[in-house]
Amino acid sequence: MIHLDKVSYSVAHLGQPLTLLQEISFHIPPGEAVSLLGPSGSGKSTLLALLAGVERPDRGSIRIDGVELTALGDDDLARFRRQRVGVVFQDFHLLPTLSAWENVALPLQLAGKGEGYNEAMQLLEQVGLRQRSQHRPAELSGGEQQRVAIARAFIHRPQLILADEPTGNLDQHTSKQIIDLLFSWAAEWGITLFLVTHDPQLASRAVRSLALMDGRLASTSV
Ligand SMILES: Nc1ncnc2c1ncn2[C@@H]1O[C@H](COP(=O)(O)OP(=O)(O)OP(=O)(O)O)[C@@H](O)[C@H]1O
Ligand SMILES: [Mg+2]
Repeated sequence: MIHLDKVSYSVAHLGQPLTLLQEISFHIPPGEAVSLLGPSGSGKSTLLALLAGVERPDRGSIRIDGVELTALGDDDLARFRRQRVGVVFQDFHLLPTLSAWENVALPLQLAGKGEGYNEAMQLLEQVGLRQRSQHRPAELSGGEQQRVAIARAFIHRPQLILADEPTGNLDQHTSKQIIDLLFSWAAEWGITLFLVTHDPQLASRAVRSLALMDGRLASTSV
């Protein structure tokens, strides 16, 4: 499902190249759930941005479901992301002018699959937010925004979910419910999960974990 081969990524910072990821290689089979651990600043969100096709690597290959992302032009890359991938960003990236249900329905609307109201309401119900469907992001708590972002990532049944600390804003009880939902949706729809997390409850549900340290893959446990 995901094949990374010697992926490196750097940014220009104060006129100097700053390497954020170095020679990252790993493989995740379809339908597997893998967690990504590592200290703050180790490059986890950066790696997610590369997998989501939001950023491009300097070197190396990223293949997702047989598609070499580095070979795609910008339009094809955006289309690939919209259709095949669902992303839960660390800071949610909800659109501020849209209500909760409109945010959740957006991937269906962009795919030309109708208004998506019923589908969005169904997922909002499952994440416990039916009563908040008309609220805009600014009128939602952090944990509520996070659950809207999770529902939006799943609505178009992508092949791959990339989630950055998806339970980071939730209390333990809500976390447990959301983790159960993530895994039951993934199992039901055959979705591969790639989860950045410090949450031991969530990490323990993954079959494998990868660890980043200063932009390098530190260890792999099976
Ligand atoms: N555009 C940029 N310019 C300069 N440095 C950057 C840029 N983007 C990220 N960095 C640096 O890259 C490193 C990795 O950032 P990243 O957001 O991937 O960390 P992270 O592992 O997700 O951390 P956290 O657990 O705090 O979310 C950080 O040290 C950050 O300061
Ligand atoms: Mg991060």
